[in-house]
Amino acid sequence: MAYRWTNNLTKADITPKAAYLNRRQILAGTIGLGAIGLAGGASAQDALEPNTLEEITSYNNFYEFGTGKSDPADNAHKLVTSPWSIKVDGMVDNPGTYALDDLLAGLSVEDRLYRFRCVEAWSMVIPWNGIEMADILNKVGVQSGAKYVAFETVVQPENMIGVQRRVLDFPYVEGLRLDEAMHPLTIMATGIYDEPMANQNGAPIRLVVPWKYGFKSIKSIVGITLTDQEPPTSWNKANAREYGFYSNVNPTVDHPRWSQASERRIGGGLFASRQDTLMFNGYPEVASLYEGQDLTVDI
Ligand code: MTE
Repeated sequence: MAYRWTNNLTKADITPKAAYLNRRQILAGTIGLGAIGLAGGASAQDALEPNTLEEITSYNNFYEFGTGKSDPADNAHKLVTSPWSIKVDGMVDNPGTYALDDLLAGLSVEDRLYRFRCVEAWSMVIPWNGIEMADILNKVGVQSGAKYVAFETVVQPENMIGVQRRVLDFPYVEGLRLDEAMHPLTIMATGIYDEPMANQNGAPIRLVVPWKYGFKSIKSIVGITLTDQEPPTSWNKANAREYGFYSNVNPTVDHPRWSQASERRIGGGLFASRQDTLMFNGYPEVASLYEGQDLTVDI
């Protein structure tokens, strides 16, 4: 079943791309306009009108290719994405270095229209194509005792100007708790708008965790490790005071240097103005994952 959730795209016939989305009945995430509107807070700001492919591929964070928003689009053509393999190791039944096609063989590609909220307080709405992370984990067989999933990005120093300049400690690494990784909202994305993932967005495969700040959605993945230890994460290593392991979108917990209460939606038109940021980025069904945790402490 590629389409699990209701289509709530009410403005989906504005552009040709959006009309295409409407035809394909791309999903509006697990809560749509109606639910948000009834809840009152977010209101019609969040009609989930997708950003254009141009916006999604020209305003990026991919520090391996530089720190400017247009650096990835300018420099990521140098990323070599074929052949591509992913090393799966740690507490799994079937460890190994898998050719990407082999790892994904037999798993269904789904279409997910998700909000995407960067910790820098900008946001987009992105129509991903991807495979549920749970499908991949079930395929490789998670062993009992595994509690976390660690991810690693490729390093191609000769092709990556940001790596040459050491703007961050590479390889970029990220991690999720196992229950977060297994949540049906968590996908490994291979495309946007039914086109192969652009290099600057993390070709050929990147993580997407829509209720967390965008930096959790690690790009161009070559390593997946199942572990019983909380794995290190790049931004936490760079600045532990500002970036925690969980990094759930939370409008009530400000970044030490700016407010997280609102966000700037990239793109023009009706939705250009600043809008309220939603708890869990508007995916309240993940709240049960954090029962008993104080999310002002576990940031
Ligand atoms: N993954 C890698 N390997 N390197 C990065 O610099 N930046 C992160 C995340 N994944 C980053 C990364 C940040 S801060 C964000 S907001 C998103 O990628 C941006 O994704 P996008 O460019 O596709 O919008």
